[in-house]
Amino acid sequence: MEITKICCIGAGYVGGPTMAVIAQKCPHIQVTVVDLNAERIEAWNDKDLSKIPIYEPGLDVIVGEARNRNLFFSTDVDKAIDEAQIIFISVNTPTKTYGKGKGMAADLKYIELCARQIGRVAKNNKIVVEKSTLPVRTAEAIKSILDNTGNGVQFQILSNPEFLAEGTAVQDLLNPDRILIGGDTTPEGQEAIHSLVQVYSNWVASDKILTTNVWSSELSKLTANAFLAQRISSINAISELCEKTGADVNEVSKAIGMDSRIGSKFLKASVGFGGSCFQKDILNLVYISKSYGLHQVADYWEQVIIMNDHQKSRFSSNILQTLYNTVSDKKITFLGWAFKKDTNDTRESAAIYVADDLINEHANIAVYDPKVTSKKIIDDLNYLESRSAAANAESVICYNDPYDACKDAHAIAILTEWDEFKAYNWQKIYDQMKKPAFIFDGRNLLDAAELEAIGFVYQAVGS
Ligand code: UDX
Ligand code: ADP
Repeated sequence: MEITKICCIGAGYVGGPTMAVIAQKCPHIQVTVVDLNAERIEAWNDKDLSKIPIYEPGLDVIVGEARNRNLFFSTDVDKAIDEAQIIFISVNTPTKTYGKGKGMAADLKYIELCARQIGRVAKNNKIVVEKSTLPVRTAEAIKSILDNTGNGVQFQILSNPEFLAEGTAVQDLLNPDRILIGGDTTPEGQEAIHSLVQVYSNWVASDKILTTNVWSSELSKLTANAFLAQRISSINAISELCEKTGADVNEVSKAIGMDSRIGSKFLKASVGFGGSCFQKDILNLVYISKSYGLHQVADYWEQVIIMNDHQKSRFSSNILQTLYNTVSDKKITFLGWAFKKDTNDTRESAAIYVADDLINEHANIAVYDPKVTSKKIIDDLNYLESRSAAANAESVICYNDPYDACKDAHAIAILTEWDEFKAYNWQKIYDQMKKPAFIFDGRNLLDAAELEAIGFVYQAVGS
């Protein structure tokens, strides 16, 4: 089937950039991105491209090129479903905060609502593509809902997991390592896979497009993220040992990364990984393993998260200890709040947990992040429900200028590896801080020798 109309439900970090790139690369396909959130859609349609709701390097140019040509953002979900041949589901799948599987299983209520809406609206055969990260066997649930609520039309469900990383989403989409498409082994399933392969073939070489059965595709996504996160927890475990023994984790990383069997990527010790995927996907893996009675498998992967939580709390404990065991009423400045550089996303960012620990110790937190709004920062803390919103607002001040943020601080903590931090006038910052002036570098970002020469007491993770 020649695809001419695609729709995507969910205009978030995954749906927005993915559809923008498909639209740019496939001018013959009409791509409509829909969302219930009218404010978000309005922002995607803003004439001023710097106002689109997701910050990703290069995304504004692509949206500028394709928008209102063959890329549309709308709140009319029914119309988009009705017109499309392929429907991507890119809605959020947060970890459940209630009931069975609380804190572990994915909350599939938004997925289910989408499936029911598609079932209700569709008047002809559709290909439905799971794009959100989902637990294994979700496709089966979607199929069952569609088949039982539909108007007798045929649905093919494909799994097409997203491997883009935030901050590099556009590059990852333009030059993917691979595209993975899982579908039914029936002739109809294979035909649906072929239709989606044709879409990606507009810019991705065919040897990079893998096709599998649905469950392999779903499980591969969780496994890829679990392996990546495991590397970070492994090197973070070694970072603690380095601090005790006098080894330097950067040197260890480099030395082991040059072994081509290990490879150099994802070996940077840090205050801990964040982001919407790693923790959630591992928890999914743990939850399904447990549900099949595979307790050793579950424990094995859960340890990656336990290590990550430990790394975050170790970072805040270290700040407390170094500042003479009290941070009460001391100004501690956070440079960075996003979970990594080049994104305004803060989901599961280590900064949130480190701030929470230090507020419990009555510290005054000052935050500067080049892309995260002060509202988001306070919302993130309120979401933890550790204290009242008023208490959070009293303990945290957000700044638009990094030098103001650091003025009169007792210590600076680097929580995100934004490039601009390296170019600051550190002498000027030092001159305006309380002495001794401490820097706790949670990202191994800054130059120790340069800062120590100025007079800072500098500590990085793992050395
Ligand atoms: C991840 C996967 O990389 C991507 O393929 C998947 O589709 C979604 O999840 P993302 O969460 O956007 O992408 O970011 P990623 O670059 O993987 O970083 C995750 C976290 O790990 C960040 O907090 C980052 O700072 C941290 N990290 C990464 C380290 O601490 N050390 C490293 O060496 C690499
Ligand atoms: P991701 O990182 O997976 O893209 P986001 O939270 O950034 O997650 O985006 C998911 C989007 O999906 C949100 O903007 C949310 O409003 C939207 N969404 C959730 N459920 C529905 C639904 N039933 N119909 C339309 N949009 C939805």
